[in-house]
Amino acid sequence: MPKIVYVDASGVERAIDASHGESVMAAAVRNGVPGIIGECGGNASCATCHVWVRSEFADEVGTPGDFETDMLEMAVSDLRDGSRLSCQIPITEALDGLVVDVPPSQP
Ligand code: FES
Repeated sequence: MPKIVYVDASGVERAIDASHGESVMAAAVRNGVPGIIGECGGNASCATCHVWVRSEFADEVGTPGDFETDMLEMAVSDLRDGSRLSCQIPITEALDGLVVDVPPSQP
């Protein structure tokens, strides 16, 4: 079972046992991780699931497509190299140990 670590703006880490096939957003919402809202239910249309993927996981997670990039521009927090909509990151065994930073606020 892959473990995903969410780090909030104050540095508090929450490690979640995620399931294959769910998204990084869904695992967070299912476990009540503060700061990840997932208002649109994972349809890449609200940007309330914005996270910053740590650089050491960039290759495994990959980069956002054009549509996701457009939506990320609606995010309240800074866009950085690791910015992703967490609903667009499907969890696989290769992502075991993934660390993402959760912005202090969402749209
Ligand atoms: S949950 Fe709405 S964009 Fe990800």
